[in-house]
Amino acid sequence: MSAQGRDGENPKPQSVVLGVAGGIAAYKAAELCRSLVQRGFAVQVVMTAAAREFIQPLTFAALTGKKVITGLFSSSSSEETLASAVEHIAVAQENALLVVAPATADVLAKFAHGLADDFLTTLYLAFTGPVVLAPAMNTNMWTHAATQANLDILRARRHKIVDPEDGFLACGMIGPGRLADPERIADAVAAELNQRRDLEGETVLITAGPTQEPLDPVRFISNRSSGKMGYSLAAAAAERGAEVVLVSGPVSLSAPGGVTLVSVRTADEMRARVFEHLERATIVIKAAAVADFHLSHVPQQKVKKTAAKLSLELDPTPDILAELGRNKQDRLLIGFAAETENLEREARRKLETKNCDMIVANLVGRDEDVGFESDQNEVTLALRTGELIRLPRASKREIADRILDEALNVRRALAASR
Ligand code: CTP
Repeated sequence: MSAQGRDGENPKPQSVVLGVAGGIAAYKAAELCRSLVQRGFAVQVVMTAAAREFIQPLTFAALTGKKVITGLFSSSSSEETLASAVEHIAVAQENALLVVAPATADVLAKFAHGLADDFLTTLYLAFTGPVVLAPAMNTNMWTHAATQANLDILRARRHKIVDPEDGFLACGMIGPGRLADPERIADAVAAELNQRRDLEGETVLITAGPTQEPLDPVRFISNRSSGKMGYSLAAAAAERGAEVVLVSGPVSLSAPGGVTLVSVRTADEMRARVFEHLERATIVIKAAAVADFHLSHVPQQKVKKTAAKLSLELDPTPDILAELGRNKQDRLLIGFAAETENLEREARRKLETKNCDMIVANLVGRDEDVGFESDQNEVTLALRTGELIRLPRASKREIADRILDEALNVRRALAASR
């Protein structure tokens, strides 16, 4: 992808600010810087004082061909000092995007709370464009409630967080906290700026949340699904230009902007609404955790307590995904699988038996930080092309974009093999 415009003889490259904060991962910012330059961006690097303990400004100056900004008042003559005193405003106005990598816990806290005591934090307050943050820190610092609360504030400002990856950290711990791959960060920058509209013209039908199967007028069977994965998919697809119909079971989330919400309660209702909207759909994603069993005949009156045991005879609900598989035509069909064991085998089995193009599989019931109810997920994608892709733990919003990316890749691969 290039940052050069398509029109005109000499298109002006898009300018971005790369903020480098102080952490062991600062050296990887050089790789990110090179990748951004290779993609055609004009990069202005801003380093914090701590970052300069880890890497020399000269490295970035050589990569970008520009002087690196290292402080609020960098010049010595009084005239130049005056110019540098308002430089953060000029830099904020001249650049289309601010990316910070590595974003330390300290920088995240300062951004979240509006503290401005150096060039980078002052620039942040003066900046009105998109912001991409790639955190890197020790696992305990990352999972600390203070850091997570700051991230919530920054996400609410619609900043793009490129989650750190799991792995060996410089401090000797193993866990989340390692700076994301520089190419992933560069992709996020490109996506934010180019406002990827690769789903324009598509209609994406998504199901989300649990279903509730009544036992009587006041009781029901349900499950722990929060709907967050399905709603993240709806948000991602809508942002990428798709028309989105979200058929949702009862959840406490509000529908993302621009998405058509169809609220349902039971598996039967979900099936009916899905088939009502199927005709126009080019991509169908079944993220809902549909109850597998229900009472076919729900009593009209509340079931009374008796001393005796109560046995319920439940019938299977319609398998909506399997039925979609039988009526697939040339739609992309993506199912989910929540498993407690044999993840990959089950994902492949469901891919075949339900005639899907992709199964998004995750292990549930082991780790409270991922899966049901969590904002994070860790999934394996089983693709019709035979590939298995393990996505590292990331926010559901980020996973949503990867699922959509891979779905489009599957479609391209299948079209090419025909
Ligand atoms: N699904 C569906 N209708 C059902 C049950 C499940 O459409 N009645 C869909 C889910 O939305 C999900 C996929 O099927 O996309 C897999 O759901 P899961 O509960 O993991 O699998 P099951 O088919 O129920 O198989 P099993 O219980 O054997 O794991």
